[in-house]
Amino acid sequence: MIDSRPLGRGELEIPRRRLSDRLRASGIRDERVLEAIARVPRHLLIPEALRGQAYKDASLPIGVGQTISAPSTVAAMTEALRLVGTETVLEVGTGSGYQAAILSRLVARVVSIERIPRLAARARTALDNLGVSNVVVHLGDGTAGRPSEAPFDAIVVTAGGPEVPKPLLLQLAPGGYLVGPFGPRDRQQLIRMRRDDRGEFSREELGPCRFVELLGTHGWAAA
Ligand SMILES: C[S@@+](CC[C@H](N)C(=O)[O-])C[C@H]1O[C@@H](n2cnc3c(N)ncnc32)[C@H](O)[C@@H]1O
Repeated sequence: MIDSRPLGRGELEIPRRRLSDRLRASGIRDERVLEAIARVPRHLLIPEALRGQAYKDASLPIGVGQTISAPSTVAAMTEALRLVGTETVLEVGTGSGYQAAILSRLVARVVSIERIPRLAARARTALDNLGVSNVVVHLGDGTAGRPSEAPFDAIVVTAGGPEVPKPLLLQLAPGGYLVGPFGPRDRQQLIRMRRDDRGEFSREELGPCRFVELLGTHGWAAA
C-alpha cells in the first residue's frame, strides 16, 4: 500500500521527487519508502538557513550539536525494518522529526523519544504543522525504551551507542527488527537485530556508518 496523503505543502516537490529517484538508482528498493521520501517536506524540518540544502543527500546540523541524518541513511534504515504498514514503531532520537515523519507514512503508529527538550519541542511543533497525527514524541532517555508502550513491532535507533541497549531488545516483539548504529565511536556499524517467533535474537552487520552519540543509561555516559 502506498500512502498518497497530501502533506499540505506543495513547494519543492520536484527536488524531493528527484532525491527519491536518486535513492532508487542507488539501490533502495522499497517503493513505499521511496514514496515517503518523495512526499515528506524535509525543508520544513531543518533550520531555515539550510533549506536550500534540504534535498541534497547530506546530513545537516539542526542545533544543539545534533544532526538530521542524510536521506539515504534514513531510507536504508527504514527499508531494513521491513515494514508492512500495521506496525507500532519505536524511534530513539527524534532529532528534527524527519525519520518519524517518514515512518508515519509507512506504519500505524510511531513512538519517538528525544533526550534534548528543545529538539523534542521543535519536532512536535513541526510534525503538528505537517498534519502528522500518528507520531507521539516523548522527552527522555530512549536507551530505556518505553516499557509502558511495549512491545514494539520494530525499533530504530538514530544515534550511535556502544552496544544495542538491552531494554530495547526486550521491548521488541517476536518477528520484529531493530536497526541502529552500534560499536566503538570510530568504528560504528549499522546493526540489524531480529527477534524470531521463539524470542531468539540474530544479528547482522549492514555496513559502517557515522552517527552522533547515543547518550544515556544504556548508551554512552553524558559528559
Ligand atoms: C542523528 S540525530 C537524529 C536524527 C533524527 N532521527 C532525525 O530524523 O532528524 C540523533 C538524535 O538522538 C538524540 N539522542 C541521543 N541519545 C539519546 C537518548 N538516549 N534518548 C533519546 N534521544 C537521544 C540526539 O539528541 C539527537 O537528536
